[in-house]
Amino acid sequence: MKKSDSLKNGPLIFVFRLPPRPSGDELMNAWSILSDKEKTRATQFKRETDKNRFIFSRVFLRKILSRFVKGLPAGLVFGNNKYGRPFLIKPRQNNFDFNLSHSGEWAAVAINAGQVGIDIEKIAPTDQLVAQNYFSAEELDYLRWSKKRKPEAFYEIWTLKESLVKAMGQGLSRSLKQFSFKIIGKQIIFKNNGRTVSSWNFTSRRLAKNYQLAVCWKGSRLQNKDLKVAMLTKL
Ligand SMILES: CC(C)(COP(=O)(O)OP(=O)(O)OC[C@H]1O[C@@H](n2cnc3c(N)ncnc32)[C@H](O)[C@@H]1OP(=O)(O)O)[C@@H](O)C(=O)NCCC(=O)NCCS
Repeated sequence: MKKSDSLKNGPLIFVFRLPPRPSGDELMNAWSILSDKEKTRATQFKRETDKNRFIFSRVFLRKILSRFVKGLPAGLVFGNNKYGRPFLIKPRQNNFDFNLSHSGEWAAVAINAGQVGIDIEKIAPTDQLVAQNYFSAEELDYLRWSKKRKPEAFYEIWTLKESLVKAMGQGLSRSLKQFSFKIIGKQIIFKNNGRTVSSWNFTSRRLAKNYQLAVCWKGSRLQNKDLKVAMLTKL
């Protein structure tokens, strides 16, 4: 493990821009790192871009994890919980948690000593119906009154919600409406069924021009400015 990879001070975030047009060599190298299960999943994508994004985000995840455990990226073996959340089977370890997210041309991995969830989303025009179905009354008010553009405010809330359900490991099987976020400047207040909860920490920030990134974790409470986001330029 590199010195900069210490998890003592809270989660570490790694982001990587997925290659838009990978060369034959890049693809071959990436392919050789995937497990048979991942290769099968990759072949099920209809669009070449989706397939490549899956391949490179999995290689990215494997390379990051191999900084924290003994073992080469290709040697890592994953299991999944019943909601699909990956965890490491080989080498088995209890020292940290990890989570992956990808959207458009970006992938992001969070590593933390305690539970962690990450979500990245490309900011795009949104459907008011989605907000109505998944957002609390307070969040709908935020969308209505925020000075930010509607899609930006929407994805700020949406990524926070997803980061939470991903940290919990249950994905979207949890009702998103029971959780509510209040954003006041840089402060994020989280309520579960109307009660403020302080055992989860959150951060939210913009990545590149039009991607929103949120991280939810248990453990060290950090100032937004102290959260480390490492941008990898190559795998
Ligand atoms: C997990 C979930 C929230 C993903 O949201 P998304 O914004 O579409 O995708 P993201 O890029 O942020 O996250 C996907 C990654 O999160 C991880 N992931 C998958 N399921 C997860 C879960 N339940 N909790 C946390 N992380 C999960 C995986 O690494 C996945 O990447 P991969 O498919 O390339 O391996 C959503 O797909 C979901 O709710 N899944 C659960 C569905 C379910 O209950 N399935 C049961 C049968 S498996």
